[in-house]
Amino acid sequence: MAIYKLQINGRSYEADVEADTPLLWVLRDNLGLVGTKYGCGIAQCGACTVHVNGNAIRSCVYPVSAVGESKITTIEGLSEKGDHPVQLAWDEVDVPQCGYCQAGQIMTATALLQKNPNPNTEEIENAMNGNICRCGTYHRIREAVALAAT
Ligand code: FES
Repeated sequence: MAIYKLQINGRSYEADVEADTPLLWVLRDNLGLVGTKYGCGIAQCGACTVHVNGNAIRSCVYPVSAVGESKITTIEGLSEKGDHPVQLAWDEVDVPQCGYCQAGQIMTATALLQKNPNPNTEEIENAMNGNICRCGTYHRIREAVALAAT
């Protein structure tokens, strides 16, 4: 065990965990940031997506020891009141069905739009492709990303 200092959503946190503990479990179990979800645990579904220095990563396979000084953003840190443009587009299009995968979807979408504010349909599909939704809300997800980009 060792103490890891983490910069998350503009705040400082500490967690006393093993070096190979996935960031997902530090966020959820140690720090109470439970908006980030566990789906598969093997980097295949995207439910656990957060940003590390603005890049979308799969926190279920990202060891806490790899974070270092990087800035982490979780779904809780996107906006104060759920009014980030991507969250507003999600509301407008009424994207979720069960909702479980949606934090990961939104974090992937926001990382895309930070790098490419005006993606075409193919770029949206390519970026969102790896985020699985058991309810099949893909059509609405693509629509919401396009809406947020306008
Ligand atoms: Fe991390 Fe599925 S829980 S990709």
